[in-house]
Amino acid sequence: MSHRPKNIVVVGSINTDLVVTTPRLPQPGETITGNSFATFQGGKGANQAVAAAQLGANAILIGKVGSDGFGPASIEALKDRGVQCDHIAQESGDSGVAIITVDASGQNSIIVIPGANALVSPEFIESKRAILREAGIVLAQLEIPVESVLRLARICHEEGVPLMLDPAPAVQLPPELLTLCDWFTPNETEAALYTQAAPSQPSEQAARALHALGIRNVVLKLGERGAFIDGPSISGHHVAPIPVRPVDTTAAGDTFNGAFAAALMDGKDIPSSSAFAAAAAALSVTRPGAQSSMPTLAEVRAFMLDQCAKAP
Ligand code: RIB
Repeated sequence: MSHRPKNIVVVGSINTDLVVTTPRLPQPGETITGNSFATFQGGKGANQAVAAAQLGANAILIGKVGSDGFGPASIEALKDRGVQCDHIAQESGDSGVAIITVDASGQNSIIVIPGANALVSPEFIESKRAILREAGIVLAQLEIPVESVLRLARICHEEGVPLMLDPAPAVQLPPELLTLCDWFTPNETEAALYTQAAPSQPSEQAARALHALGIRNVVLKLGERGAFIDGPSISGHHVAPIPVRPVDTTAAGDTFNGAFAAALMDGKDIPSSSAFAAAAAALSVTRPGAQSSMPTLAEVRAFMLDQCAKAP
């Protein structure tokens, strides 16, 4: 029998990223001269779908764009990168945009204007139940209304489909939503908000506090320090960091999630899937932009072989 990975359905935002690079961030009220300006395809939902599709997954994106020039361009770019776009609706009005500043160390600051992403309603999600039912896993983030994510989580629960929620950008969530996530993937800042602790808290402590909220598997994304996974599926697993020279960290977390899901759907176990995701994310920070930075399957395989060859 031929091996066919199961569908990954991503429900989330589609943005156009307006990106400036600058030696440093300005102080409030200060004007400085930056280095460059460029427009990239982004949005946490679209990014995770692209990451998965470029790594060989059947990735379907559910979301909305506006009637301006940005929306159709985003859809064309998603199709070019292998994402199935039949469930992206167009609304009259603005598409989502993100204003991003990247400093000399590759760190970014982002302001998102939701536009059409704010119109991804619970009813729209409900109308996609048949597609969601067929998914091997569903990925979501928080750049669409929280009540829509809650409806999505209930549908996934009712249909028996695992949900991976990336709680970014961090906002207060209904307690019920936390109990409906099979995978919860905050970075340290986001974990700090949900656990009401300092971002520097030990990973084990953050995971314990998140489990106490009813979350099952926690994937704590630690940036240049790797990741930590804990829950009923695997206990206290540290994902080793892969040192690279950062150019732009935008969408590294999205790359991790898309790659992790793609590897799980390909039948890999959790340690292998998370190592694969860490390699994909590391590669993405060596390149500018969001979707433009995401590696192909061949690139990740070659990179991992190279890392093995360098290991002592
Ligand atoms: O996670 C990175 C993404 O956040 C960017 O592409 C931007 O669109 C914002 O949504």
